Amino acid sequence: MPRATFQLSWERFPRTSDVPAIPADGAPEAIDTQDKGTPDKWVPRDPRMLSDLYSQGFFTSTNLFFVRNHGAVPQVDIEKAKNWQVEINGLCNNPVSFSVDDLRRTFEVVTIPITLVCAGNRRKEQNVVQKSLGFSWGAAGISTALFTGVRLADVLNFVHPQKGRRMDLPNGHYGTSQLASWARDRKRGMLLAWAMNGKALEPDHGFPLRLVVPGQIGGRSVKWLTKIELSSIESQHHLHFHDNKVLPMPVGPDQARAETQWWYDPRYIIRDLNVNSAIATPDHDQVLAATSDSEEATFVLQGYAYAGGGRRVCRVEITLDEGSSWSLAEIKYPEDLFREVTHDDPVYGRIDLTEEDTCFCWCFWSYAVKVADLSKASSIAVRAMDESLALQPRDMYWNATGMMNNWWFRVFEHPTM
Ligand code: MTE
Repeated sequence: MPRATFQLSWERFPRTSDVPAIPADGAPEAIDTQDKGTPDKWVPRDPRMLSDLYSQGFFTSTNLFFVRNHGAVPQVDIEKAKNWQVEINGLCNNPVSFSVDDLRRTFEVVTIPITLVCAGNRRKEQNVVQKSLGFSWGAAGISTALFTGVRLADVLNFVHPQKGRRMDLPNGHYGTSQLASWARDRKRGMLLAWAMNGKALEPDHGFPLRLVVPGQIGGRSVKWLTKIELSSIESQHHLHFHDNKVLPMPVGPDQARAETQWWYDPRYIIRDLNVNSAIATPDHDQVLAATSDSEEATFVLQGYAYAGGGRRVCRVEITLDEGSSWSLAEIKYPEDLFREVTHDDPVYGRIDLTEEDTCFCWCFWSYAVKVADLSKASSIAVRAMDESLALQPRDMYWNATGMMNNWWFRVFEHPTM
């Protein structure tokens, strides 16, 4: 017989975020007090960012959309934004320079729902094992928005590219590369975007113009974009080599710091996201109290999953016994709602996923577990598989940059309760 009342407290491994408590008058536009005295002190930032992700649902409101910047946010006023130019040159027959208005007038304007994920999502778990070179992200380095802009593939067609296998995206303090053949493929969905959730980009997210690269790590989506250079070699930008790599496991942080050979080896570059999932309910420190003593009482486990390169997550499985047995969770793909109808809209341009079979957004899974079973378990773990049959591994692939962590996501019963 199940006990009439019991309490289980689940410890998320590790905590999703370490954000400060929400101030009583925490208006969404509040300036985060952590930015006081930094060059970003003028940037509107909601202190609740990273703490309130899952309850937001499919789209993340812009003020809570995660932010990752390698330096201060450029101050661009309206006048400067009007004169903002993106140059497209290098190995092409028709080099050009476009303002945001030129892009809007010259190419079809489209809107696509896209989930951006930082390559360091879930790095905190790796840092618990051994401190990597990166800071601790929980499982909330991910957000979804409607991005509006023009297709990079259309813009590249316009400049008549010559033979060349790379696209360099230098941007002052930041720079990265893209495979030219992927950039020219409309199916890869890359956008030169000026709007997010129907409004001009916020300074933190790249105002006035950014690249948005669905299905790849967030680091490829260059913000405050000014230049695209078609090239035959990888970007030579410092950050392109010293970021966004999964170095081999035996290379420790000190070795990676000291020996540059690791960074310049193209085999360790990350492009597409890997398949991943996380548990959102039970939340950290959530106490589950039985509401009924019926054998049939259930508790609904919930979370998210995603895959890279436009691939779809095709199964999510739950184990209560560290992998001895698995149960199938239900998956919902809110992105599919966009496949049913097309929209033509003065703000968003064309929203048309009816012909697309790529998945560029996260999905949600749920699994109703018997409370009686849960009361016997000491851990809950989740793993996802994508349509290429890539499966999240049982063991962590620890690496010096602490990137692409996608071992089973686990929560444990709190030992002290
Ligand atoms: N673009 C520039 N110019 N500078 C940056 O530091 N950070 C990259 C990418 N684009 C970055 C950038 C990284 S690492 C990520 S994960 C995404 O932006 C995050 O985008 P977001 O801040 O809009 O969420």
